[in-house]
Amino acid sequence: MQDPKYVKDAFADIADKYVLTNHVLSFGVDILWRRKVAKMVSPRNPINVLDIATGSGDLALEIQKKCPGSEVIGSDFCEPMLQQANKRGLERTVLADALHLPFSEDHFDVVTVGFGLRNMADWSGALTEMFRVLSSGGWLIILDFSLPEGFISRKLYRFYLHKILPAVAGLITGKRSAYQYLGETIESFPSGKDMCTLIESNGFNRTKLHPLSGGIATIYSAEKK
Ligand SMILES: C[S@@+](CC[C@H](N)C(=O)[O-])C[C@H]1O[C@@H](n2cnc3c(N)ncnc32)[C@H](O)[C@@H]1O
Repeated sequence: MQDPKYVKDAFADIADKYVLTNHVLSFGVDILWRRKVAKMVSPRNPINVLDIATGSGDLALEIQKKCPGSEVIGSDFCEPMLQQANKRGLERTVLADALHLPFSEDHFDVVTVGFGLRNMADWSGALTEMFRVLSSGGWLIILDFSLPEGFISRKLYRFYLHKILPAVAGLITGKRSAYQYLGETIESFPSGKDMCTLIESNGFNRTKLHPLSGGIATIYSAEKK
């Protein structure tokens, strides 16, 4: 569980370098992960989609591209990140805390959240809000980092996460500590079956998980029945 003031300030500090840093650190693979989410959403087009913790809008922009005619709203509580999303072409953004969304019940067909839930102060509280704003039969899709299952791959990944990544990101952004924080959040965030249990304990059904790139990220999908 994270301190919202720290999170907001940390993202405000790196807002203008966030996209570049992501692509460098993931060797561009993060683009493919978000495309995969957009592809999962696209058969339902046209619909209304809320991308929570949209940041600089990468995931919402992919969905906007793949789902012409759909209404895609990106929400975030960090204004400098939302300004980046607007600059990059996201048409509708809303400044809002994911724990208190300014939308009525049963409003969206799809709610997505990419690399956002992990940064929130109350994961269950956020999932409850996602459930509330989704319409009945609507889908939740979460994309986030996870830890690989295998012993060796987990060890190698941890070395990259805690040693290499903060050093490289520190060089690009000048904010090494923000990326040390990233590793800590990944360690403490539930992944795999534990994440499915958390999602279902907040009312969702038919939870599925799709590990990506050897399990360093996972897409979770679930339905509000
Ligand atoms: C790692 S970025 C993810 C951005 C984008 N979704 C992506 O795929 O790259 C995390 C975002 O979550 C936002 N965030 C964290 N806690 C939040 C909350 N309680 N309400 C709204 N946004 C939040 C931060 O401001 C930040 O923009």
